[in-house]
Amino acid sequence: MRVGFIGTGLIARFHARNLADAEGAAIVAVHDLDQARAQAFASDFGGVVVSSADEVIDQVDAVYVCTWTSDHPQYVRSAAEAGKAIFCEKPLATTHAEAVSMTEAVEAAGVVHQVGLVLRRSPSFRFLIHQVQQGHCGPIMNVVFRDDQYLPTQGMYQSTWRGDPDKAGAGTLIEHSIHDLDLLAWMLGPIHSVGAHTAHVHGLDGIEDQALAWLVAESGASASLTSIWHNVLSRPSQRRVEVFCQHGVWVLEGDWNGPVRWELAAEAADAVGLNQTGAIEGPELVAASTAIDGLGTNGDVAFIEAVRSASPAYPDFRVALEAHRLCDLAYTYAGSVD
Ligand SMILES: NC(=O)c1ccc[n+]([C@@H]2O[C@H](COP(=O)([O-])OP(=O)(O)OC[C@H]3O[C@@H](n4cnc5c(N)ncnc54)[C@H](O)[C@@H]3O)[C@@H](O)[C@H]2O)c1
Repeated sequence: MRVGFIGTGLIARFHARNLADAEGAAIVAVHDLDQARAQAFASDFGGVVVSSADEVIDQVDAVYVCTWTSDHPQYVRSAAEAGKAIFCEKPLATTHAEAVSMTEAVEAAGVVHQVGLVLRRSPSFRFLIHQVQQGHCGPIMNVVFRDDQYLPTQGMYQSTWRGDPDKAGAGTLIEHSIHDLDLLAWMLGPIHSVGAHTAHVHGLDGIEDQALAWLVAESGASASLTSIWHNVLSRPSQRRVEVFCQHGVWVLEGDWNGPVRWELAAEAADAVGLNQTGAIEGPELVAASTAIDGLGTNGDVAFIEAVRSASPAYPDFRVALEAHRLCDLAYTYAGSVD
């Protein structure tokens, strides 16, 4: 399987490392506006540096679109027209309308498509969401979702485009917390209403560095999402999620390997066969989440398998549309004191 990369920065390197475990897949062509970056990537992971995205698309079976967000749509369209499988990073685009149009394009072309909503494969979230959706704790009442990290124009990011609204669309809500909106939509089911407040303190106009969004689901469950880009360089992305059900409380502290903790009413603990209080993390959590859904944690291996067998990939572009819809609604209705 011949694989190509358009954009060879931070996230491209993450995928390239994962692809080392995908049997029979080889990176053969890469392109980046920054020639030195493309060259360093090719030296580390293989492939020939070519001078345009079209050349990448011509030479491969599957293409990774890992540029900054505003440039995703054009390459997704070109790859779809060429009939190539596509892995596109999140957010798909800077607006919901564009994400819908891209989804229609890949579906019409009949190509395999996957989006970089990587937390759909997180053992922590798969375990947590399964537990609270089972119903043994009664209905979900409220979710408190906090996501904070340092302003991603520095440190490990080694790029500044996240400070440019023309490239990123906006700030923390779309660029980072599109993951969180996706997880909340997955957990809560159909969303009935959305509200938000955004502001910025870092002086990057059009880039909110704090967002408070609230969601109300058709089930009656509600959620608040707090998303912050501060300047504490010792804190990379951190998520803490508290889910209050009628008969139990679940707390997720590590967004991949846990721990996920619980405190249950006696009847709920009996129903699910757990102690009233407990925690799970690490290999035990990975095994528990695999037993739930059979999904692996390596989304790139899964993508290559889907391409090889011409079967649907997960999560695909359509999965991402609800998060994009909620994000656009949040921005539309956001009150702001900027
Ligand atoms: N799934 C995740 O958890 C996750 C994590 C990080 C980034 N991302 C997403 O991945 C994308 C890239 O982010 P990153 O952190 O890798 O950024 P980055 O700055 O490290 O890399 C992006 C690269 O794309 C190149 N580029 C931009 N436009 C281009 C074009 N038209 N043609 C060729 N190359 C182009 C840049 O020169 C840069 O080298 C963004 O959409 C971001 O939101 C997703």
